[in-house]
Amino acid sequence: MRHIVLIGFMGSGKTKTGKRLAEELGLTFVDVDKKITSEMKMSVTDIFSRFGEVFFRALETKTIKELRQMEKRAVISVGGGLPMQEQNHKYLKELGTVVYLKGSPETLQKRLGGDQSRPLLSGANMEEKLRQMLKTREPVYEKLADVTVITSGQPMKKLIREISIKCEMFENQYFMEHKDQITD
Ligand code: S3P
Repeated sequence: MRHIVLIGFMGSGKTKTGKRLAEELGLTFVDVDKKITSEMKMSVTDIFSRFGEVFFRALETKTIKELRQMEKRAVISVGGGLPMQEQNHKYLKELGTVVYLKGSPETLQKRLGGDQSRPLLSGANMEEKLRQMLKTREPVYEKLADVTVITSGQPMKKLIREISIKCEMFENQYFMEHKDQITD
C-alpha cells in the first residue's frame, strides 16, 4: 500500500496539514508521535527525560517499520527528527510518497517560540538551536522528498490542493515506472 508521508521541521504544520489532507482525500490520518505517546502513555518530553533520546528514536523506527503492514491508505505524519536517522530512509520510502513541508525559518520560529512540548528546542537560545538544526536537517529533508511544498504564507486550502496535485503527479509517474512490480 502506498501512503502519503509528511516530513519536515518541528512547527512546519505536519499534523494540522496532515489531518486536513487526509480529510480531503478520504484517508486515515496517522501521527507517529501520537502513536508513540499513546502506546507509552507518556508525553514526548517525559519519554526524553525518563528514557533518553536514543530510546525515543528506537520507538520511532519501530513504529514506522510496523506501519508498513497497514492496509488502509493513510496520510502519515512523522516527527521532525525521524528522517535524521539514515536507517529510517528505507522505511519512509517503502511507506509511500514522501512530502516535505518546508516552512521558512521566520515562520518556524514564530510557531515554536514559547513551546515547551519539544524537548530539543526547550530552554535558552531557542533561535540559535533552531538555526543550527535547520542547517543540518534541511538538506536531509530535501534529499528524501519526492515532493516539496513551501508552507509559509499559504492558505490551508491552497496548500492542500498543491500537495494533492503534486502527489498525484508523482504517483502516476511512480506507477508508470513500477507497474511490473506492483501487486496491490
Ligand atoms: C522532534 C520533533 C517532534 C518530536 C520530538 C523530536 C525532532 O515532532 O518527535 O520532540 O527531533 O525534530 P514534531 O516534528 O511533530 O514537532
